[in-house]
This record gives sequence, structure tokens and C-alpha cells, in this order.
Amino acid sequence: MAAPIALTISVGILSVICLGFYDYLTHFEENGCEMTYMYEYPKYVNIELSQEKNENDFPHYSLYIYGEGDYANQLRGLHLKGIPVLFIPGNAGSHKQVRSLGSVALRMSERINNKIHFNYFVADFNEGGVIARALFTLPDFDSSLANTIITQATPHQRPVAAVDVDLYQFYKNVNNYWRVHASTSLRHVTVVSTGGAYRDIQVRYGLTVLDGIVTPDRAISVSTTAVPKAWVSTDHLCSVWCRQMVLLTKRAMFDIVDRKSLQVSTDPELRMKVFRYHFVSNNGLPDYLTLETNRTIILDSKIKWEVKRDKLWKYSSPKVSSSAYFAIPFPLADDEDSIFISSNLYVRLKDIERTNSTYVIIMVMAGEKKVDILVDHYDSNVRHLVYQMPNVYDTIISYPISATDGAALLKIANASSFYSLHLAGLSLPTNVYSVIVTPNKCRKHNSELYEGSILRLNIPWSHEDVFSYASYGKEVSLAIKLQTGRPADHDWRQDASEPHLEMFLHPYCHYRLKLVVATQEALGQGARFYALLLPGFMVAVLFLSLRSAILAEGKGSIVNVRSEPPYSDIQTWGKPYYIVPAVMIGRYLMSLGPITKLLNFLHLPKDDTVSLREENIFFSALPMILYTCAWVMVYLHAALAFHMMKALSYVGFLLAVVPKGISERSGSVELVVIILALSLTFLCGTLGLLLISALLILKTLSLMHTITRKLDTQVTHRQLSILFPVTLLVNLQTLLSLTPLVIWMKLAVMNNSLFHRLTPDPSQTPALVTCIFVPVLIYANNLSLLRFQSVVIGWSLYCLSVVTMLFATVSLYRLPSLIAAAVLAVTLPHIPTLLYSLKSAKNQKGE
Ligand SMILES: *[C@@H]1O[C@H](CO)[C@@H](O)[C@H](O)[C@H]1NC(C)=O
Ligand SMILES: *[C@@H]1O[C@H](CO)[C@@H](O)[C@H](O)[C@H]1NC(C)=O
Repeated sequence: MAAPIALTISVGILSVICLGFYDYLTHFEENGCEMTYMYEYPKYVNIELSQEKNENDFPHYSLYIYGEGDYANQLRGLHLKGIPVLFIPGNAGSHKQVRSLGSVALRMSERINNKIHFNYFVADFNEGGVIARALFTLPDFDSSLANTIITQATPHQRPVAAVDVDLYQFYKNVNNYWRVHASTSLRHVTVVSTGGAYRDIQVRYGLTVLDGIVTPDRAISVSTTAVPKAWVSTDHLCSVWCRQMVLLTKRAMFDIVDRKSLQVSTDPELRMKVFRYHFVSNNGLPDYLTLETNRTIILDSKIKWEVKRDKLWKYSSPKVSSSAYFAIPFPLADDEDSIFISSNLYVRLKDIERTNSTYVIIMVMAGEKKVDILVDHYDSNVRHLVYQMPNVYDTIISYPISATDGAALLKIANASSFYSLHLAGLSLPTNVYSVIVTPNKCRKHNSELYEGSILRLNIPWSHEDVFSYASYGKEVSLAIKLQTGRPADHDWRQDASEPHLEMFLHPYCHYRLKLVVATQEALGQGARFYALLLPGFMVAVLFLSLRSAILAEGKGSIVNVRSEPPYSDIQTWGKPYYIVPAVMIGRYLMSLGPITKLLNFLHLPKDDTVSLREENIFFSALPMILYTCAWVMVYLHAALAFHMMKALSYVGFLLAVVPKGISERSGSVELVVIILALSLTFLCGTLGLLLISALLILKTLSLMHTITRKLDTQVTHRQLSILFPVTLLVNLQTLLSLTPLVIWMKLAVMNNSLFHRLTPDPSQTPALVTCIFVPVLIYANNLSLLRFQSVVIGWSLYCLSVVTMLFATVSLYRLPSLIAAAVLAVTLPHIPTLLYSLKSAKNQKGE
């Protein structure tokens, strides 16, 4: 491919990727959360822990109790009689985040004369959210002490980015413990987990669900968009103060209190009933806990019956003066088999067929404030439609018409208040459509505020409904996209088990429905679900680029960085079909029965697609797509880095900044830096990496400077062609190891000492390897290789690349070790030469 064409295509693909990120980071509903107001000044009373858990053991952890005004003063004696609640702030959270929940709890208690009262404790752990479930795994923890956990926007399935092996292992252990003890020591614990849907760009909903961790009869996982009375998406920080969520969470917490003991009920079934009501299906009945499903209702013979046979009728009254029973006789007319009733009265549902009823009665009692009823009979064949979603190939063939004119059109006549569209085949988060329902012609009508149209996307396998509302006569639209993939074992052939779009329309309007392919949002979903897999693929591409430099070396080809800059071969040597098929074969081999058994026996890890498959978000073209994206990104990144460095070296930046004296002694400066890097590695691996990264960049710059000054020899070009990809790799390794550095800095600040050693430090071993062997590359002044050496290294790099794609795309924590292994592989043949030249240098000195 000629360079300009390659560049154009690459830039094109990069723009598409950027559009995906742009959509993911910016395109979501506006914040619909209300603020929680406080009436008194919040106080956090620090609780002194007993002597055994003294300051030395846990110097950075503290326990507070929340109070306001007078109440805070009463707390100082710690004579607490309320129900203890432990609030654990999330990652980078603060103990002050308790104030919304704590304050609402106080106000609600006051309203019932403090009969039920909660004491809010806050533990400031300085870290993660799964801690609540992790407590139960501690041998000293009395698991009977706690029976209810409510988490907000907590990733339960796995860490968002698995960059830290310890954190990853921690999740695995905690989740395994919960699976094993589900029916024994954890049987009494009920867990509620809410996720913030699309506004939460840090933790996507799929990671917050408890599926496969806690048994379904003890767990509720729900997206805040689906929670009744909230119906809003909450971003990661807002999840703690969003008033709608705070109120309903608090109502649920009051409802799980046993009225006799005034403590949280010990009956898990009761608590689940409460949570299901408040978080999943609030039907408005205030006495839902005591109501018997099978209660007989005695009709008052004095109240008038109004038999309603009309196909469509409305009743509206600002104030009901005399009671009435509206009776809808059964069976309905011949061409009607379904009935839609919408009303603001409380509803109790029962299966009509099974009860042999002859009427549906709507009771409107005198004294009701405002009553609205809408009844619509219809034929389900006309209004319950199935739409077969076009698959990827159909979409591509019909593109861009499917994105502009729409993939489907439907005309809806007036006098239809309900339509349901089953979206057959919707299974992956990247299948994204946008549905637009436009009113065509509306009758002139003085509409109330609530009148209009509502769209609801219902996903049968997960509580992730999203709603959209538009007032009377306005267009309403909704993105048809999934927050979780369809489970492999989900039986989608059954009726009502496909995702479906419910449309609650106004009977006075004609409508037109348009379903269009939403390209930008599909890219956004791609970024949301798969962006974190890219670093792994980028490392794989870089390995191949390094491999090409090594092979060129072995062939003894003349390298000239001027005509062929070291990034240019990424295009040729990184072609997706050179490597992706090998990865597919590898994955296939590992899935064969005997080999799987052998791998299990050897305790080798499963490949990373297993965890994507478990999340139901894997599809076979995914590795190819991601690899291609990474290929383009690495190419452009390398080209950009190379030209920036070239420009820097051109300007003579180095010479201008570095005083002459130092540049003459650059050899000894290098040595000092290397020794410093090696020693810092023992404090925190990333510190060493930072120095080595800087050294590599400076070395590359100085090589480029040599070329600019036309002082170059073949050795200069050779060194540059190998050091350049190594520099990019080590930079990535440094970036991937930033977490330990952050922790080290926090501890250094807390301990007031820079000589604090981080233990355990997952970055240390790979950092040590890199810090030892990169200097060898820098000092070995002739990087020439024998042919067989280059072939062996080439194959090792190819294998490392395959291994990276198999095992280090989700498990990012493996990348630093793989990069260190690549550095080691490239360096090994030069160690003897280096030792030899050092020795002869010494001998010369001796003479
Ligand atoms: C319904 O209530 C009657 C008594 O009122 C009782 O005998 C019967 O078992 C109940 N049925 C169910 C299904 O609860
Ligand atoms: C439906 O529209 C027709 C004319 O298009 C009108 O005559 C009729 O009254 C409308 N029905 C309702 C329920 O608005």
C-alpha cells in the first residue's frame, strides 16, 4: 500500500474510533437527579477504636458516625439504640458522602416520632466497593451480624480494568466464596445492587449485576433507569446523592424493619419482597406487605354499575363525588382479544382467564382526588408485532439507507393507545438502533402535563429498562441498545422473552414509527464495552513491529531510518491476517476436551475470551476488529511519536538544554540514571520504569540527533530501529503500572517518607527485568545478530504476541510481564558480547 493511501485509511479508521469514544463520553441523557437538601449542618463524629485495633495497625482507616445539629451532640456519648448501618464509600470516595442517606434517614425517623431509627456509621477504608461482600469472607467476621447489603454502582463481576493482579485475585476469591457459601453461611444475606446505566462512564451496568455470584432469590440487580420512581440514569458520583434513589432506598430500609423488634427483619423472604417492590416493580399499593393476594372484595350493592362495551373510552374527573363501578364485560368482541387499561388508580392483577371472570371492574370511590382512566380493546395480532432485527450483514448491505431512511417503518392509526414491538434477534450491545415515533396528526386537545407518549425498552433477561417520554403532540425517541449481552442459556423462542419496545401512545394522534441503525451509538457501545481490551492488542502489534526489526537485523539488511522510518514496517508486518488466525487456532486448540483438561491440570489460566463469553459480549469477529483498530492506532501513534522526536532532535533541543559538560560525560550520567532506576525499583517498580522510559527516550533522541548531524553510521540506524519499538513498549509498561505508583505516593505522603517500600508491589518483578535489560540494549553498541538468533527471537516475539492476544486483553495485569519478557528475549544474545567488550575495555585500561 502506498504510504499516502495507508495514511488516509488509517486516519479514517482512527476518526471512526474517536467518534465511538466521543459518543461514549458525551452522549447520554441529561442528569435527571434532584439534589437532596439538608436542613442542618452535617457532623461526622469520629469514633475511637478500642486499644487492640490501635493506631499502628490501621493508621489510615477511621470510623465515623453521622449526625446533625442536636442529634450529633447526643451521639457523643455513643449510647446508640438505633439500627446500625455501615456506609462504605467507594473508590476515591469520602466519608462525607453518607450525608444524603443519613440526612434523609433522620428526617424520615422524625416523621414517625423516632420509632424506627438508624445509626449511620461510615468506615473510611481509603479503597474499593466490594469490601462489603468481602467482609463475609474474613474468618473473624461474625456473618450473622449483617444480613443486608445495598451497593450503588459497584462492579461485582470483576474490576473495571484488571491492571492489578492482587485486586483481580481479590475479586475472584470473594466471588468464589459467595458462590460456595450461598446456601449455607450466606443464606440469610440479601444483596441489592444498582448500576447507573449510560451516564456512569466508569462502571457499566453489566459489571454491577450479581448474576452467578449471589443466588437469584437473595439478590436484586437493577439499573437505576428501571427503578420505579427513579427512572433516571445516574453518573458514578451522583449515585450517592441522587434524591430519587436516596428516597426510595430509604423507604425500602424502613420497610425491612420488623415492627416488634424495631431492628432489621431476620426474614430474608420479607426483605426480598420489600426490595422487589421498591427496586423492581412498585405497583403503587401502599399496603403491599400485608395485602393477601387472595382477599375477597365485597362489592357494594348500592353503587351503580356502568357497563362499558366501547372499543375505546376515557374517564377523567378532577374530584369524584359519587362512587361508581365501571364494568367491562367478557368475552370481548370477536376481533378483540386484549384489553389495555391505563389509570392512576391502584391496580391488583389476577389472571383473568383462570378466574373465569365475566367482568373486569374498575372501582372509582367517592372522595378520590383526581381520576383518569383509559380503556382500549384490541386485537393482539395487529398490535403485538415481531420485528426481526437485521443481522450485521443485512445492515452492512443496506447501509447507509438503514441509517438514514430507516430499517423499518410502521404507521399507527389513532385510537391506539398501546403497541408492542418484539425485537427478535437483539443480543449484542453493539446492535444499536434508534426508534423515533412521530405524531402525524393530532386532534386539537387541551392536554394535561402527563399526557403524551412513553416508550419503554424492556429486556427480559435483565432489569435494565429504559424509558423515554414526550408531551402531547411531540416526537419521542429512544435508543434501542443493550447494557448486557443476551445470556447463552436464555430461551428467546418463548413468547415475551425477546427484548421488546412498548409504546404507550395518545389515542388522539396518528403516529409514524421509524427504526434506524444508530451508527454513532453503536461505536459508542463498542468503546464502552471493548475499549479496555485495546492496550493488549496494541502490545501485540508492537511485538510484531519489534520482530520485523529483529528479522531485518538477522538478514543483515541495510537499515536506513531516513528512507524507512521504524514505524513504516508496522503496516506490512502487523497485518491482521498474519496473526489473528494463529490466535483463533490457539483458542480452538485450547477448547478441545483433552487439551482443556491438561491445561486445567497444569493450572494454566483460561483464555480471556472465556470471561467475555461469560458476560455474553463476545462475537467471533471481535478479535479481528480490535486487532485492526490497535494496528491502526499503533501505526499512527508510532508515526506521530517518531516525527515529534525527529523535530525535537532537529531543533537540537538536547544540545541546547544539556550543558556541554554533561553531554560530554553523558556516559556516566546514563550510568547514574541506570543505577538509580534499579535501586528505585525496590521502593516501587514503576519509579524505576519511569527513569528507564526517560532514558530510552533520551537515547532515541540522541540517536536521531546523530542522524540529523549526519554523523550516523549503520550502527546508529540499527540501534534506532530496535530501540524505537522498545521505547514504545516500555512507555506502555510504565503506563500500565501507574496504579502501584499512585498507591506508593499516597503511602509516601501519609508516612511522610519517600523511602517507603511498597509491598506487595505487582509492578516490581517485570520492572526489575526491564530495568536490568534495557541498559544492556543501550550499551551493546553493535546490535547485530546472527541469522539463527534473529529467527529464534522472531518466533519468540510472534508467540508472545499470540499469548498476549489470548491471555492479556481482559487480564491487563499480565501485560507488564509480557513486555518484560519481550525485552529479555531481544536482549539475551547481546549479553555475552557486552560482557566481552566490557572485559576488553578493562584490559585496555589495565594496559
Ligand atoms: C385463599 O383464601 C382461602 C380462605 O380465604 C384459603 O382457604 C385458600 O387456601 C387461599 N388460597 C390461596 C391460593 O392462598
Ligand atoms: C381518528 O382520526 C379521525 C380522522 O383522521 C377522526 O375522525 C377520529 O375522531 C379520530 N379518533 C380519535 C379517537 O381521535
